[in-house]
Amino acid sequence: MAGGGALRTPFGAFYAPNITPDPDFGIGKWSDADFIRALREGLSPRGQHYFPVFPYPAYTKMTTPDLLDLKAYLATIAPSKKPSRAHEVNFPYSIRATLMPWKWLNFDAGEYKADANRDAKWNRGAYLAQALTHCGECHTPRNMLGGLERAQWLSGARMPVGDLIASNLTPDKTGLADWSTADITDALETGTLPQGGTLGGEMGEVIRNSTSKMRAEDREAIAAYLKALPPHPTTVTKKAK
Ligand code: HEC
Repeated sequence: MAGGGALRTPFGAFYAPNITPDPDFGIGKWSDADFIRALREGLSPRGQHYFPVFPYPAYTKMTTPDLLDLKAYLATIAPSKKPSRAHEVNFPYSIRATLMPWKWLNFDAGEYKADANRDAKWNRGAYLAQALTHCGECHTPRNMLGGLERAQWLSGARMPVGDLIASNLTPDKTGLADWSTADITDALETGTLPQGGTLGGEMGEVIRNSTSKMRAEDREAIAAYLKALPPHPTTVTKKAK
């Protein structure tokens, strides 16, 4: 949590900041309200817009009790004095004011609202997938400004660096139509694919650090949510070699 992880994008390289409870180098001085505003509105305690590489378009959907639990957890990890590294962002994106129109076009702030037409399991899966594990940040295609193409939700997208494609997760024949619920929960727990082989790259990290640590019923809820998505054909193509 001491920061430094690089996220390379077409707009430049971003470095995740120190989020340990160090008062000077981390977020130790933040109030609960500061923390909620950062994750829900994408605004720093000083009122600056965050780059959406910090996936607040997903975290905005977290409930207030979950945000406060997360802050309480972060407050207990070892503080680190590692300074956060400045981003290397191309002009004009380096000007944070350009984020105002970006947010206006691409960002809807607000907590997850349960869909009354769906059962509790589906709603739990939707909440986890949309807010917390933000599958859409990698698996949904983006527009020229890096905003998510919500009409093609989870239909597959190329990772900004490297050759990997974050696959189509909708139940289309170019997606997960042939996957059973158990295929999905196994992949999220262990990274094994139904046809053999193991998921790697960024998905390997997602599985290692996140979905393998979930309760089984939460992985099942995500699978139920994915199975009920509207099918959408894959639009992303492999890079010509
Ligand atoms: C940080 C980016 C990232 C996030 C977040 C992410 N994925 Fe992935 N996912 C990938 C990449 C990249 C691959 C392709 C990995 C490979 O080819 O080895 C992938 C592959 C998969 C596959 C395999 C599909 C197939 O057809 O082989 C499944 C299933 C999957 N992801 C589900 C999810 C779910 C569910 C979430 C949210 C809980 C999620 N992913 C979040 C990047 C991501």
